Amino acid sequence: MPAERPLRVADATVIVHPDADAASRDAADRIARVVAEAVAARGKAVLGLATGATPEKVYDRLAARVADGSLSFRDVTTYNLDEYYPIQPLDPLSYRSYMHRHLFSRVDLAPNRAHVLDGTVPEHAAAAHAAEFDRWIDADGGLDLQLLGIGRNGHIGFNEPSDLPVAEFAARGTLPIDLHPITKADAVREFGSLEAVIPRALTMGVRQILAARTILMLATGPKKAPIVARALKGPVTASVPASVLRTVADRVVWILDEPAAAELG
Ligand code: F6R
Repeated sequence: MPAERPLRVADATVIVHPDADAASRDAADRIARVVAEAVAARGKAVLGLATGATPEKVYDRLAARVADGSLSFRDVTTYNLDEYYPIQPLDPLSYRSYMHRHLFSRVDLAPNRAHVLDGTVPEHAAAAHAAEFDRWIDADGGLDLQLLGIGRNGHIGFNEPSDLPVAEFAARGTLPIDLHPITKADAVREFGSLEAVIPRALTMGVRQILAARTILMLATGPKKAPIVARALKGPVTASVPASVLRTVADRVVWILDEPAAAELG
């Protein structure tokens, strides 16, 4: 199997793996390393987690490591990036259910340390709930690591393309948001039809993501190639949300497979 290749793309650290399996293994190994280091240093590790198709293999590997005894979530607290709104936690399409299926039910993580934004919060209380989520993360000392995927429109979490100035976008807290047409089109995979897609969500804001001490951006497959190239080689702009990761480039590792890296040159 060809080896991974490190790539310097302007102001970003990029590691290109031969395939999605190798990329996922690298991401899982880095997460395990951050957990070990943070627990050794502070007695706990705080992880920001993503959902979607991309991290499924990462969660498989983390669960396998817990099963073989090389990793424990005993001292881990997690915060998920986003949740559809409104949605019931037991709805199989909720991100709470996704996390239960792919990770929470398979590892030794205490249920009261697993935070997912509450898709049942009443409309009038949504902004307060979002602010509360940021306070919890801040009170936990911020995120040791944030795992990210990238939407085909460049979104991170559900921070959709925006015409805000970069500084304002980068300072934004957790918030309710309307999903972008590309995000809704991609969600048909889960919801079955465009009409069935829940058009709103609660998402961790860019402020909290950029403040994470380590940020892993995992992107795999050919559909991500054009947006990965725009985010890494185009201007830093809120209209390509992932491009703002370059403002904290020293803390970000882009973990790609060859198909997702195809347009980087
Ligand atoms: C999910 C999330 C999203 C996804 C992105 C990529 O919690 O925050 O930003 O990471 O939409 O999704 P997939 O991996 O399904 O291509």
